[in-house]
Amino acid sequence: MTKPKVIVTRRWPAKVEAELKKNFDVDLNATDQPLSEAELKDAFTNADAVFPTVTDAINAKVMSAEPLRARLIGNFGVGYNNIDIDAAKARSLAVTNTPEVLTDATADIAMTLLLSVARRIGEGERHLRSGQWTGWRPTHMMGTQVTGKTLGLIGLGRIGRATAVRAHSGFKMRVLYFDPFPPPEDFITSIGAESRDSVEDVLRDSDFVSIHCPATPENRHLINAKRLACMRPDAFLINTARGDIVDEAALVEALEANRIAGAGLDVFEGEPRVSPGLLNRENVVLLPHLGSATVETRVAMGLRVLENAKAFFAGEQPPDRVA
Ligand code: DGY
Repeated sequence: MTKPKVIVTRRWPAKVEAELKKNFDVDLNATDQPLSEAELKDAFTNADAVFPTVTDAINAKVMSAEPLRARLIGNFGVGYNNIDIDAAKARSLAVTNTPEVLTDATADIAMTLLLSVARRIGEGERHLRSGQWTGWRPTHMMGTQVTGKTLGLIGLGRIGRATAVRAHSGFKMRVLYFDPFPPPEDFITSIGAESRDSVEDVLRDSDFVSIHCPATPENRHLINAKRLACMRPDAFLINTARGDIVDEAALVEALEANRIAGAGLDVFEGEPRVSPGLLNRENVVLLPHLGSATVETRVAMGLRVLENAKAFFAGEQPPDRVA
């Protein structure tokens, strides 16, 4: 039986690439260079499935490829805002993502950013490595205590909940949240999380605000200048979700005006471009979209794409079908 033809847009962990070879007639990307829009479009005429990552824009133009051979888009990532879902549906393309397997790694990064910005970790490292450290002293690089503070979560889905558990169980934090979709009641009770009626209410009452909502068109610039102004001047903003949920220019302005105390960011509006106003600030911690970047998680994500594709080509419903 001929194997389905698959095009993978970037390098994947070697273990997963070996599995892909066993199951599919696969074109891997040995150079790891991103495909151009024209190359992505060609992929849709040359393969039965295309496996993009969250940085490949699978837009209507790409999917207008003729003749269209592809029937499946297996996204390597839980977020799929890189894919025009309406256009995929219009072309009868099934779309899958990789939920669950990256929940813990991403919650770990949210806590890493929160702790790092509160305790001035990046700044301290730069200080030491540049030879400026003259020794211990009582007033040296005092940061902000995390234990016992209030964490406000914008979105309490899987990753928001995993972050809440870490904050509550590990750091005795009080947890507030806003989520238009009510989370499971037993979870709320287990950590005593307190619901708020609006994003603004969470922002007003939190020492740390962590964003965990999806990047839908409605959530673009959800955290804008007006909402940043609701935060307390000693509060910190953490974003491990998607860059465009925060108006980055407004965030730079808020930081410059000391309207908030700092930010920990793993995602940016124009990745890999980062606002220059963030790059030169000491009270921000910046990571290059590392939320899911552990070997274990990236292997699990790749295997999840594989399982979805195997189900699809066996005529079954892929477990993580989103369109
Ligand atoms: C995702 O999966 O959506 C992350 O942003 C990348 O791991």
